[in-house]
Amino acid sequence: MPERVVTNGDLAEVMDTSDEWIKTRTGIERRHIAEENQATAAMAIEAARAALAVADADPREVDLVIVGTATPDTCMPSTACLVQNALGASRAGALDLNAGCSGFVYALAMGHQAIASGEHELVMVVGADTMSRIVNQQDRSTAVIFGDGAGAVLLRASEGTAGIRATALGSDGSGGDLLMVPAGGSAMPACAETVAQGLHYLAMDGRQVYRFASRTVPRVIEQVLEKAKMSLDEVDLIIPHQANLRIMEAVAKRLHLPDEKFYANIDEYGNTSAASVPIALCEAVDKEYVAPGQKIVLVGFGAGLTWAAVALEWGPSVQEISAVFYRRWLRWVVYRYADMHTRWMRFVRSNGGRAWRSARGQWDRLRHRDSGSE
Ligand code: UT7
Repeated sequence: MPERVVTNGDLAEVMDTSDEWIKTRTGIERRHIAEENQATAAMAIEAARAALAVADADPREVDLVIVGTATPDTCMPSTACLVQNALGASRAGALDLNAGCSGFVYALAMGHQAIASGEHELVMVVGADTMSRIVNQQDRSTAVIFGDGAGAVLLRASEGTAGIRATALGSDGSGGDLLMVPAGGSAMPACAETVAQGLHYLAMDGRQVYRFASRTVPRVIEQVLEKAKMSLDEVDLIIPHQANLRIMEAVAKRLHLPDEKFYANIDEYGNTSAASVPIALCEAVDKEYVAPGQKIVLVGFGAGLTWAAVALEWGPSVQEISAVFYRRWLRWVVYRYADMHTRWMRFVRSNGGRAWRSARGQWDRLRHRDSGSE
């Protein structure tokens, strides 16, 4: 999470809103906002490195990096490539996945399939968004809701019952206009006019999205549980996308479950889009809400419209896995090497590199001429 915290009170000083409205309508009390020099990749890299540390894994063994994000650093290249490079995950493929706020749960399902197919062993799945960059800070209907952050998990092929049991994905493109950034894509490239009209900002029909989420989330939870052959009673914890506390309560009511079954940390972070589910999962693990053998459902929904759920059984507690010192040191070396390698490759491909190569060529020619004359 970025360190900078913006409270409801801070927002009430700069726009027509109040702590009371935000808290009662959404459950949000504060959110973390990225610094100006911090974008999605920087947070994603930190989260991914933390996941590697928890799993005590070697970054060079990662096969695939998937970043669920709707706010990549740039349209091209993908944020996943920046993450792959900074991890020194030299043999990994990398791609971004844009499914709005469902991005992480979608990416988790894809990562799971990549392992289940036998093609990959170790998959890094990240959910990261810098929503503050696409939200109009003057628009009270969106500015108060969103925050920035990143979370990551490392999926590893394993035997036994623990792990991902089932996934369920859905989409309804007819609702694409309910949550969108109109300009900046190929349909409406960003230009002075689109900027003047504020079309590069997120536009949301909050009420419609609220209705869609309250109806769809219970259905996708039931669907994934059916696929996983689990009953709702067996589920220990549901970790939903943190969009609105009232949506979580409405879903709990529809499923006849107590609110306590739904992990909520929206008060602290607001809606961090694709990052919200992994952040909540990691926090639930840290706070020991999650224990080995427990059945957990992760569920996301958002722009597209999209929705997704993953049913899983938690494996051995990460705290039980003691980090081996030399592997910690090795990761440190791999990250430093990755950084130096990037600088070196950029130099080699630059004019400086060309000048250096031609100087070396001339030096070689001179040497050969001299040795020939001898
Ligand atoms: O993660 C992606 C998915 N996104 C979501 O899941 C968002 C889902 N939607 C929501 O969470 C809620 O619809 C919101 C929190 C966005 C809005 O809550 P609401 O209860 O649906 O409010 P509303 O849009 O119906 O607005 C009610 C009133 C309006 O005033 P009038 O027309 O009744 O006089 C708004 O202008 O509240 C006003 N309002 C505000 N007042 C103070 C809207 N935003 C604010 C604000 N502060 N920040």
